[in-house]
Amino acid sequence: MNICVVGTGYVGLVTGSVFSDLGNEVICVDNNAEKIAMLERGEMPIYEPGLEEMVKRNREDHRLFFTTDLTYAVERSDVVFICVGTPPTETGDPDMRAIQEVARGIARALNRYKVIVNKSTVPVGTGDMVREIIETNRVRNVDFDVVSNPEFLREGSAIKDTLEPDRIVIGAPNHVVAMKILELYAPLERPMIITDVASAEMIKYASNAFLATKISFANTIANICDQVGADVAQVVKGMGLDSRIGPAFLNPGLGYGGSCFPKDTAALVRTAEKVGVDFKILRAVMDVNAEQPIRFLDRLRAALDGSFDGKTIGILGLAFKPNTDDMRDAKSVEIIARLLAENAEVKAYDPIAMDNARRIFPQICYGKNAYDVAQDADALVIVTEWNEFKLLDMERIKSSMRRPILFDGRNIYDPIRMRRLGFEYQCVGRTRATIPNHRH
Ligand SMILES: NC(=O)c1ccc[n+]([C@@H]2O[C@H](COP(=O)([O-])OP(=O)(O)OC[C@H]3O[C@@H](n4cnc5c(N)ncnc54)[C@H](O)[C@@H]3O)[C@@H](O)[C@H]2O)c1
Repeated sequence: MNICVVGTGYVGLVTGSVFSDLGNEVICVDNNAEKIAMLERGEMPIYEPGLEEMVKRNREDHRLFFTTDLTYAVERSDVVFICVGTPPTETGDPDMRAIQEVARGIARALNRYKVIVNKSTVPVGTGDMVREIIETNRVRNVDFDVVSNPEFLREGSAIKDTLEPDRIVIGAPNHVVAMKILELYAPLERPMIITDVASAEMIKYASNAFLATKISFANTIANICDQVGADVAQVVKGMGLDSRIGPAFLNPGLGYGGSCFPKDTAALVRTAEKVGVDFKILRAVMDVNAEQPIRFLDRLRAALDGSFDGKTIGILGLAFKPNTDDMRDAKSVEIIARLLAENAEVKAYDPIAMDNARRIFPQICYGKNAYDVAQDADALVIVTEWNEFKLLDMERIKSSMRRPILFDGRNIYDPIRMRRLGFEYQCVGRTRATIPNHRH
C-alpha cells in the first residue's frame, strides 16, 4: 500500500519505518526541514533502539522516503497517517494547530479517495473536526474517510511496541474503512479492536489516565509507608501479584513525566469539564504527581541542613525515563530548576539525553559519567533509573563525595546495603526497610 506519514517524531518516524519494513511504500513528511535533511543523510533526529538500522534498510530498498512536501506525499498515497504533535497549552487543552494545518494541507492535495488516519493523541471529536476541515478546504470533489488509530508505543521500546502492540485500536466510520486499516496491521497478528471514532479517541486517554492513576496511587502508598515503617517495595510486589491489579506502573518514585501522561491527564480533565463531569480522581492524580518531587526536595534540603545554597548536587539521569533522549516534562527539569532557584550548583549526567538537556540548562555542569558527577558532591540524586546506575561501584562513589548523601528518586538501590556502605540514603516509601532487597 502507498502510505504517507505526517510528522516524523517518535510516533511518525517509528510508524513509517515499521510500515515500510512490512513491505509498504512510505513517504514521511515533516515541516521541520532540518529533521528531513538529517533523515536524508541517514542520521536519526531522535534516539530509539533499532530505529537507525530499520530506516537505513528500508531507504536502501526504496520503500521509505522523506520530504517536506506534504502535497507531493499525500497525492501519491492511499492512506495518510497524521502523527504531528499535540502539545499542552496553558488551559490543559492540547494545542490542535498542527492537526488543523495538516488537515488543510491534506484537503488541498486530495486527488483521489484516501483514508486519513489520526494517530496523534487528540480529544474526542477531533475525527469530526478533521473531516469538516477537509470537506471545507478540498479543491476537488473526491471522497475520503477519517479513522482514529491511537498509538500506544512507549519511547525507548517504540519499535518493539509497534511490532508487538498489546492491541491495535481502529475507530472507523464503517466496516469497509476499518478493514482497509486492519489489512495494514494484519501481518503483526495482534489483537484488534474495531470501534467507532469517538470510542477509539477515548480509549487512548482513558488508558493513559489509568496508568497515571496507578503511578500516583503507588506514590501515595509509598508516602504512607515512609511514615508507618512499611516497605513499599514489598507492598507493591504483594499488590502486583494479584492478577486483577498487575505489577506494571506501580513503581513509586518522583512521579510520571514525559510528553504524554502530564498532557493527556490534563486534556482528559478538560474534556470531562466541558461535558459537565468533574473528574475528581484524575485531578487528584495530577496533584499527587506535582507534589511528589517537591516532597522529595524538601527531604533533601532538610538532609543538607536546611539549605541548597552553595551546595553541589549531582543528578544522575535526565531523560524522563530510561532508554530515551526525551526531556519533555522530565522530572529532572523541574528538580534542576528548583535547585538552581535555590542557588545550588548542579552537576548532571545522562547516558543519552545530555545534548537535549544542554539546550534547557546550558548553565549547569555535565559529567562524563556517574563517577564524575559524584566527585565532591554534597548529595547525589537518582532521577532516572537507567540500568547503568544500578551496578555502579558505590564504594568509589561514596569515597569521592563531599558528603555521602544519596537520594534515590527511583528506588533502584537496596536501602540496607546503601546504609551499610555508609550512605545517608533516602528513597521513596522504604525509609525503614529492614529486609534486604535481592533485586539488585
Ligand atoms: N511520544 C510518545 O511516546 C507517544 C506515544 C503515543 C502517542 N503519542 C502522541 O503522538 C503524537 C506525536 O507525538 P511525538 O512524540 O511523535 O511528537 P514529536 O514532537 O516527536 O513529533 C511531532 C512531529 O510533527 C512535526 N510537525 C508538527 N507540525 C507539523 C506540520 N504542520 N506538518 C508536518 N509536520 C509537522 C514536528 O516537526 C515533529 O517532527 C502526539 O499527539 C502524542 O501525544 C506520543
